[in-house]
Amino acid sequence: MAKHSSNPTLEKVYAAQSDEDRREAYNEWARDYDKDVTEFGIQLPYVGACVFAKHVEVGTEPVLDAACGTGMHSLPLKMMGYGGFQGIDISDGMLAIAAEREIYDSLQRMVLGKRLEFPNDHFPVTYAIGALAPGNAPPESLDEFIRVTCSGGLVIWSTHAHVNERTQPFHDKRQELSNRGLWELVFETKPFVSMPKGDSVIKHAVYVYRVA
Ligand SMILES: C[S@@+](CC[C@H](N)C(=O)[O-])C[C@H]1O[C@@H](n2cnc3c(N)ncnc32)[C@H](O)[C@@H]1O
Repeated sequence: MAKHSSNPTLEKVYAAQSDEDRREAYNEWARDYDKDVTEFGIQLPYVGACVFAKHVEVGTEPVLDAACGTGMHSLPLKMMGYGGFQGIDISDGMLAIAAEREIYDSLQRMVLGKRLEFPNDHFPVTYAIGALAPGNAPPESLDEFIRVTCSGGLVIWSTHAHVNERTQPFHDKRQELSNRGLWELVFETKPFVSMPKGDSVIKHAVYVYRVA
């Protein structure tokens, strides 16, 4: 299969074929993750937090932080007075670092793409930054986001905006959910280079969808 990135650290996670591969790749990366993505010039935590703050009132809780990683994208929100974060991630290593940040009311290991252990219509906001991408959480994660998000609630998420055969399924899925009337697009950023010093080919966009 064609490489997804010329950056060897990024390629390791993008090339993951199974949940076990993903868990191992992120467990191994966890201690260096913040340092490495900071060196790559990661833009997603800033853009994600700005989009969140533009659309969500302080006090809107609980927030599902799906594939929360080390929590670097939710730290600015916590500092701005948001709360009720419930973090889930496939990697215990990433969850352990998130726990050190003291942002989360709860942290649990869960796998996106599988059924989530939350009731229907539970979260007024679901937030998933840097989560849905090749080698990471699959497009089907969006079905569960819609199930666990309240009617009228928001799903704020990102995916790769440069389109190729591995990123297209994420766009097909968001369109399919719109066509089925399960959600509607409220806002989208322009595509932006998300790690300018890591891989200038990779672009992301952040989307806000309102659940029907
Ligand atoms: C690029 S990191 C982003 C972390 C965090 N959201 C941020 O923006 O800093 C991707 C995260 O997704 C998690 N992940 C990847 N595939 C997953 C899956 N199928 N289910 C749950 N978590 C997953 C990884 O363990 C990792 O923590």
